[in-house]
This record gives sequence, C-alpha cells and structure tokens, in this order.
Amino acid sequence: MTARSGPESEGHQLRRAVCPGSFDPITNGHLDIIARASKLYDVVHVAVMINKSKQGLFTVDERIELIREVTAEFGNVEVEAFHGLLVDFCKQRDIPAIVKGLRAVSDFDYELQMAQMNNGLSGVETLFVPTNPTYSFLSSSLVKEVATWGGDVAHLVPPVVHEALRDRLTKND
Ligand code: PNS
Repeated sequence: MTARSGPESEGHQLRRAVCPGSFDPITNGHLDIIARASKLYDVVHVAVMINKSKQGLFTVDERIELIREVTAEFGNVEVEAFHGLLVDFCKQRDIPAIVKGLRAVSDFDYELQMAQMNNGLSGVETLFVPTNPTYSFLSSSLVKEVATWGGDVAHLVPPVVHEALRDRLTKND
C-alpha cells in the first residue's frame, strides 16, 4: 500500500474514502475529484463498479490500468473493480465515506437519492464536492460520443486516456 504510514503506526486508524464510478474512461473531471479527495483522506479507494448490463468501450481491466496510471502520482490512491453494492465495498474495507463530484444542480436529484439510500443501508456518509467549473459539462459518455465523430477531446481527458481512445476508436472503425 502506498498510503502515508504515520497515523497507522501511531495507533490511529487511516481515514479512508471511496470515489466510485464506471470510469469508461476516466476524465479530467473524475481526476480532479480524486485528486482533491486524496488531499483530504489518508487513502482514497477508486471503485470501478461493474455493471454487467452495460457494454463499455473499455474493459474493466483497461479502465483500472488507465486510472492507476493517472493517479499514481498522488501516492495514496488504490484502484479496484467491484461487482455488487457500493455499501458492501465500503463495509468490507472499513470505508465510512463516499466522495462524489456534483457538476450541476441537475446531478443533485439522483445523487441525493443514492446518498440517502446508501446511508439508510449501512450508515455510510456521502460527501459532495463541487466540480471544477471547467469540467461542469464533462462526462465519459460525451467524451466517447465526441471522440467517436472525430471531435477534439484532448483537453478533457489525461493524455494516456486520449491515446487509448484514439487507439480504440480507430481500431473499431
Ligand atoms: O460513473 P457512474 O456510472 O455515474 O457511477 C454510478 C455508480 C457506479 C457510482 C452507481 O451506480 C453505484 O454506486 N453502483 C453500485 C451499485 C449500487 O450500490 N447501487 C445502489 C446505489 S444507491
């Protein structure tokens, strides 16, 4: 584990949070939220939630690899896939907090429902972080759509993801 070792060795529990999502693929908006969470918590778990009914552009393993590459510099981010309820992911790892980005008021409606459901199921708290306005319009789906039709998404995703998108979409032609 790459987390800071100080607090645990002194008998304190590490403060953990999870940033969950589909990450198909990770965008600069996701990365901004993970970076900010990594400054607030000792360990940030990025959970790539598996949704078998949704066919992704990237496999779960590819998504994980891309996230690992772009979060390596933070030093306290762990990335893994999970199939099931987010609250079970949290329970199994002793994670008391979910960190989510809110892009706009329109996000709040569904996010509030999920936060209340998750809290009711297990007591886990959800903390909302306002998305950097630069990324308030950004989603993985839009990035994929724009990139599919040859639009420029270089400023919306990390360079390694841009390369992976180009590779995947060219090969799929
Ligand atoms: O990136 P997304 O697709 O908007 O992320 C949504 C996600 C994966 C965070 C959400 O669907 C989720 O938490 N799924 C796990 C299954 C679960 O716990 N469902 C109940 C939510 S109240």
